[in-house]
Amino acid sequence: MQTIVLATQKGGSGKTTLAIGLALAAIQAGHTVRLIETDAQGTLSNWQSRRPYAEPMVEPIYAAGDFEQRLQWLDRSGVTLAIIDTAGGVNAATTAAVRYADLCLIPARPSIADIEATASTLSMVRAWKRPFAFILNQTPIRGQRLSNAANALGEEAALDVSGVVATPFIVMRNDHQDALSAGLAVTEYAPSSKSAEEIRGLWQWVEAKLNAGAAIQDEPFVGDVQEAPLAPMFVETPAEAAAFVA
Ligand SMILES: Nc1ncnc2c1ncn2[C@@H]1O[C@H](COP(=O)(O)OP(=O)(O)OP(=O)(O)O)[C@@H](O)[C@H]1O
Ligand SMILES: [Mg+2]
Repeated sequence: MQTIVLATQKGGSGKTTLAIGLALAAIQAGHTVRLIETDAQGTLSNWQSRRPYAEPMVEPIYAAGDFEQRLQWLDRSGVTLAIIDTAGGVNAATTAAVRYADLCLIPARPSIADIEATASTLSMVRAWKRPFAFILNQTPIRGQRLSNAANALGEEAALDVSGVVATPFIVMRNDHQDALSAGLAVTEYAPSSKSAEEIRGLWQWVEAKLNAGAAIQDEPFVGDVQEAPLAPMFVETPAEAAAFVA
């Protein structure tokens, strides 16, 4: 099983929308997917209660200490992809989820506030040495603002934009909101639309990145063992987590 975590402290950047979009694109590509909700807001559970289908199941995990066992159990149950949607802000559940990520996806709208807000998530992801990528979401269709935002994210990570900013960018389109109201993902709600095409393209980018990560993990280990710091496993309060990523 592979595990994707959607995380950034900025509220409303699209974590839940993208988790749902990617989940359905992955199912349509043959995966058995479990959506994991760590956000007490319950946006994912509410979406599932409006949904006319049972799949994908939404499973809440709120306690940081529950992740390891639940993920192992899902793996044994035949789930091939777990997608974890986290709450805005910084908390113990998010730091624990990131610990188990094969890929951490950090959504950002093309605004300075969203881009700046990715910094603490990036520190946490790097502390755990997890693969990551940014997703530019709710973008205009075109314009200089887009490449400026992508470059700013690349600079923040001090990495080449092409490896670290997922493509395509996800344009601001009503389909995303209408699909969620109907308990659907855009690839179900409007399968031939631009929004669905973008999400399928994003899934392909994410899948390639996951596979590249798996290939690296399969390589024989040479060199020193570098354990990630233990602190995030034991943070109990948002204040402790914030202190860790500060
Ligand atoms: N590409 C998009 N186009 C149009 N609307 C979008 C898009 N992505 C997200 N939205 C809308 O923006 C709002 C916030 O998105 P979402 O709930 O996914 O963000 P979030 O990061 O999960 O927020 P929170 O931090 O509160 O959990 C929702 O109303 C959603 O429908
Ligand atoms: Mg959300």
